[in-house]
Amino acid sequence: MTEINQRVTLARRPEGPTTPDCFSLEEGPVAPLELGEIRVAVEWLSIDAFIRTTLRAEGFHRSVPIGGTVGALGAGRVTESTVDTMPVGTAVRGSLGAQTLATMSANAVEPIDESLAPLPAHLGALGLTTGMTAWVGMRRIGMPKPGDTVAISAAAGAVGSIAGQIARFDGARVIGIAGGPTKVAHLVDTLGFDAAIDYKNEDVNDRLSELAPDGVDVFFDNVGGDILDAALDNLAMQARVIICGAISQYDNMENVTGPSLYLRLAERQSRMEGFAVYHFRDSYEQATSELAAWLADGSLVMPEHIVHGLDHFADALQVMFTGANLGKTLVRVE
Ligand SMILES: NC(=O)c1ccc[n+]([C@@H]2O[C@H](COP(=O)([O-])OP(=O)(O)OC[C@H]3O[C@@H](n4cnc5c(N)ncnc54)[C@H](OP(=O)(O)O)[C@@H]3O)[C@@H](O)[C@H]2O)c1
Repeated sequence: MTEINQRVTLARRPEGPTTPDCFSLEEGPVAPLELGEIRVAVEWLSIDAFIRTTLRAEGFHRSVPIGGTVGALGAGRVTESTVDTMPVGTAVRGSLGAQTLATMSANAVEPIDESLAPLPAHLGALGLTTGMTAWVGMRRIGMPKPGDTVAISAAAGAVGSIAGQIARFDGARVIGIAGGPTKVAHLVDTLGFDAAIDYKNEDVNDRLSELAPDGVDVFFDNVGGDILDAALDNLAMQARVIICGAISQYDNMENVTGPSLYLRLAERQSRMEGFAVYHFRDSYEQATSELAAWLADGSLVMPEHIVHGLDHFADALQVMFTGANLGKTLVRVE
């Protein structure tokens, strides 16, 4: 019997925030495998900010055509294979796409070592766009020293939660910036941050100057816009500003608002450096082994916000862009 693949396709390009009517759920029979290909039953999808940028006509990562399957990183299990090294049952992760059955070259996926952590953690705490990103940003760019003051935006999200915990393990004093009292309490009580700022109800600039009177040594930015400016205004001498992302800008990439206070970099002899995690392949092995060890001994906490069902893929994107998530946002494909 021919198997049926269900997939989320792009019905129209979003203008501003992504809404469910931008997508369609379609289904159709899968094609027979060609030599070198495998079929993967997708179990988990990683909800990432870059998905929003691929919905534009000219995406930085790539652009999904109208009617095309929306791209997403995922994890699942091989159900059919033409490749001896990847037999049926192998757990894998890769660019599986927002669908139930991914048919692809075996070379395009990576086997998962399930002894390290369960499948979803290989997209979250150990995943390229979450744990590895936080590790690379903190360890390769920010490099906080014991006693440094580190501030992080979108601190209760996936990357931010881990970035802050790594800075804490490295002996820094950590200040998280997040939206709402629940997230602020979570950062201090559960993740062990030293302080947290509720940017929706507090003035970030005022609070940073109270909490970091000697300035911020490392700012890990996930948000951009006004929050980046507030951090620039509070830099210590020889500070490092890590540009990991700018989620406040992704809904309107034609009119990105840049920082207006960038001259603070000159005044405080500081530097600002952006990065994309995939330029740091040489760090993947070390990052994975350290993140896995912290997960195993319980020192690293990574909450997961799970949305159930491929038909709720669009809702999961909205969850992340409206900040309804705590930690890593995932879709459980059922
Ligand atoms: N450089 C790289 O290689 C790389 C790789 C992966 C991800 N990233 C970047 O890392 C950042 C975080 O990604 P993630 O996957 O971990 O997402 P996430 O932090 O789990 O979710 C996004 C969070 O951003 C906050 N947010 C959304 N809109 C906002 C706005 N207008 N102003 C302020 N905060 C807003 C929300 O938290 P609140 O409730 O606190 O507002 C939301 O929970 C993104 O900018 C992404 O592009 C970079």
